[in-house]
Amino acid sequence: MKKLGIGLLGCSVILHKAHGPAMFSLSDDYELIAMCDIDPQRLNQMADDYHPKRRYTALADMLADPEVDVILNTTPTSEHAATTIACLKAGKHVLCEKPIAITMEDADAMVEAARQSGLVLQMALQSRHNLAWKKIHELLQQNAIGTPHTITLTQYWNEPTVYDNWRTTASVSGGGILADSCVHWIDMMRWQMGEITSVCGIGIPSPDSPRPEIEDTSLTLLRFASGAIGCLRNGWRNQTLSGNAESVEINGTKGSIRAELRTPWSNSGVQEIHLITNGDDEHVFTYHSPHLRFRDQLKDFAECVRGEHPVTCTVEDGRRALKIQQAIYASFDSRRWEDVPC
Ligand SMILES: NC(=O)c1ccc[n+]([C@@H]2O[C@H](COP(=O)([O-])OP(=O)(O)OC[C@H]3O[C@@H](n4cnc5c(N)ncnc54)[C@H](O)[C@@H]3O)[C@@H](O)[C@H]2O)c1
Repeated sequence: MKKLGIGLLGCSVILHKAHGPAMFSLSDDYELIAMCDIDPQRLNQMADDYHPKRRYTALADMLADPEVDVILNTTPTSEHAATTIACLKAGKHVLCEKPIAITMEDADAMVEAARQSGLVLQMALQSRHNLAWKKIHELLQQNAIGTPHTITLTQYWNEPTVYDNWRTTASVSGGGILADSCVHWIDMMRWQMGEITSVCGIGIPSPDSPRPEIEDTSLTLLRFASGAIGCLRNGWRNQTLSGNAESVEINGTKGSIRAELRTPWSNSGVQEIHLITNGDDEHVFTYHSPHLRFRDQLKDFAECVRGEHPVTCTVEDGRRALKIQQAIYASFDSRRWEDVPC
């Protein structure tokens, strides 16, 4: 099996924390050819650790490198469209970080560029590769709780460092927590429950926020095409009893799924899914090493590029998540339910 020559675009924190270690653990799938960052200092700092064959400060130069087959794009959100489209036009497959883009125009252009190129453009919404979320998906597909009719998904983190970077500058990030981590949960809700058709949300800054123009905390009600309803609760500055908390409860006509999940940064956290049927019949499924979702995502990307199966999380999924995110922002302003036509 030929290894894929990989080019890393953006010497980012997420690359260093998650994708880099994942890539090095997949040495049968990938060979690190090049790294590129517009900031030479960041490029050299990270490349001195990673030892790529070549270093670039201009994307065009990395795209001219014939040994680069695929690009992992971890630039900030405002850069995703222009850089990803350039990669596709140069014949490179792309795994692009979330969220897809800031505007629907950019997201549409990415969908079109992927279609025209015939190449793989996969969105890095890695919860789809978290074994615990995959088990929940399998249980729902097997009708384990009958017809699911409510879902409540909660992500409360206490992350004051979000104010230190571009993540809270709306012109680069697209907004606050909704445009950042919440996109994972919009995608998860769609994947587990089917299409979202209308939303009604409210967002507030944290009382001590230095950026009161963006939301740190949001609450959103959702309706699904199936008739089910949901509630999405997110916060960057919410201390909870269990620290950084991610949890989900899905109730159906025959049973219930409750899960305590762990952030992907946790190497040792245990994720537990409780399946309760017939009132009190309980099964517990336990998963370790939540960070392995990044390895499994990169493995999955390599399989897609080799044509072994269709793309798991498509550019259309990324576009749809942005559309729903924008409808939630619209409902913040209108204080009404907003439809999200398909
Ligand atoms: N999947 C996840 O759970 C997850 C978690 C964190 C971040 N992210 C996403 O990853 C991306 C990166 O986030 P981060 O906080 O790690 O970024 P970062 O700020 O740490 O790094 C971004 C790097 O990109 C470089 N850069 C900017 N524009 C560029 C361009 N046009 N060409 C080349 N390099 C360029 C910057 O110089 C910087 O070194 C974002 O899209 C973010 O939303 C995803």
